[in-house]
Amino acid sequence: MNKIEQAESILKKYNQNHIKIKTEEQAEQILEIDFAQLEELYQYAINKKNIDDIENIEPIKAINPDKLKKEELNEYESLGEEEIKKGKFAVAIMAGGQGTRLGHNGPKGTFKLEINSKVKSLFEVIVDKLKEAQKKYNITLNCYIMTSPQNHEETKEFFEKANYFGYPKQFIKFFKQGDLPLLNKEGKLLLDKKGLIQQASDGNGGIFHSMAKNGIIKELEQKGIEWVFIGSVDNLLVKYVDTLLLGLAIKEKVKIATRTVIKNSPYEKVGVLCKKDGKIKVIEYTEIPENMRVAVDENGEIIYGEAHIMCNLYNIEAIKKASTKELKYHVAEKKAEYIDKTGKLIIPQEANCYKFEKFIFDSFCLFDRIAILRGKREEDFAPIKNASGKDSPETAKILYENYMKKIHKI
Ligand code: UD1
Repeated sequence: MNKIEQAESILKKYNQNHIKIKTEEQAEQILEIDFAQLEELYQYAINKKNIDDIENIEPIKAINPDKLKKEELNEYESLGEEEIKKGKFAVAIMAGGQGTRLGHNGPKGTFKLEINSKVKSLFEVIVDKLKEAQKKYNITLNCYIMTSPQNHEETKEFFEKANYFGYPKQFIKFFKQGDLPLLNKEGKLLLDKKGLIQQASDGNGGIFHSMAKNGIIKELEQKGIEWVFIGSVDNLLVKYVDTLLLGLAIKEKVKIATRTVIKNSPYEKVGVLCKKDGKIKVIEYTEIPENMRVAVDENGEIIYGEAHIMCNLYNIEAIKKASTKELKYHVAEKKAEYIDKTGKLIIPQEANCYKFEKFIFDSFCLFDRIAILRGKREEDFAPIKNASGKDSPETAKILYENYMKKIHKI
C-alpha cells in the first residue's frame, strides 16, 4: 500500500471519508494524526467532560512577601541570585499563541507598542530583561522559545531580522509545540485553503512533551540547568528572572513555584488557584462555576481570588515528570473557516468546531506541595489581551512605564 492508500484506509476506518486525498503531503499529514485519541476527545467534548470536577475544593492563600521579615526576603533573594550565578537557571517563553484576540496578524510576541518613546515588540521587552540579568549577574541565560507549527518560521525570521535584539544568538533556541486537528460539531475533520486538515496548537500545557521531543530537556541536563522560569509572551511586567520566587522555591524545597496576583473582579479573565484533595490546582476562567467565581468572604474579598498569571518556575525534575504524563485536555468551542465539499470557503458566524488544549498549570498537582508567592498587580501583571479597553496595549503600557519609573526612580 502506498501512503495515499494507507491514509485513505485510515479515513475510512474513522468515518472521515469526506476528505479526498490527492497529494502525498495530504496523506503524510493524515498518517501523523492519532485518530483513536481524536475519537476519545470528541466523545469527551460532546459529553461536556471538560468542565473541571470541583468536588472537595478549598480556597488557598499565597505567601504574602509584605508579611515576611526583611531578613527572610534577603535570604530568598540571595539564594535565587546564587543559583543564577552558578548557571543553574534558564527561561522559556511560551510563544505558541497568535495575537487573534488582540487583532494582530502574526505571532503574539511580534506585536509592537511604544514604551518610553521607543517602539518595541513583546519579544524585545523580554530580551531586554535577559540583557539586564546578563549585566547584573555576569552570566548569559539560556532562553528557549516555544513556537507553534503555525508561527515557528515567522518567529525565527523575526528574531533573525532584529539580530536577536543584540542578545547572543546561540543562547536563544526555538522549539515547536504540538498540534491537533479541529473537529466540527459532528466530529468531522475540516480542510483549510491548502487542502490540508486544519490543526491548532495543543495548548501551553503541551510544553513539557515538546521539550522532551525536541531535546530541550536533554540539553538542560547537559548544561546543568536545574530551574526554568516558564512565562507568557503577553505580560509586560513578567519577571523572567525572578530571584525571589527562585529563592523561595529553593528554601521551601519544592519543585514548582508560581507567582500570583489578587483578582481585581470576579469576572477578570484569569485562572484561580485552589486546593483539591489536598493538592494545588488552577481553575481556568472559562471553566469556573458561577458560585465559585462570585463567592466573597465576610470582608467582601473574593474567596477564590489568587490568580494564576503564568509566572511559573519549574525544577528540571518537575519538567521531566510532566513530560512523561498526559495532562488532561480541555475543550473550547471556536469559529474556524474551512473549505467545504464543493471547494467553497465557509466563514462561520458562530462557533463551529472543538479545539483541544492542555493547560500548563495542570502540572501543579504532580507534586504534593508547590510554593505560591503573591505578587502585586502594579509590579507583576500588565497583560495585553485585547486591542483596546481592559488588558490592552494602552493599559499595559501605563503599568509598565509606571513600574520602570519606580524601579529606576526616573
Ligand atoms: C492564560 C492562562 C490563565 C491566566 C492568564 C493570565 C492558561 C491555560 N491560561 O490565559 O490561567 O490567568 O493567561 O494572563 O495558561 N500559548 C502557547 N501555546 C498555546 C496557547 C497559548 O504558547 O497553544 C501561550 C501564549 O503565547 C501566551 C500564553 O500561552 O504566552 C497565554 O495564552 P492565552 O491562551 O492567550 O492565555 P489566556 O487565555 O489569557
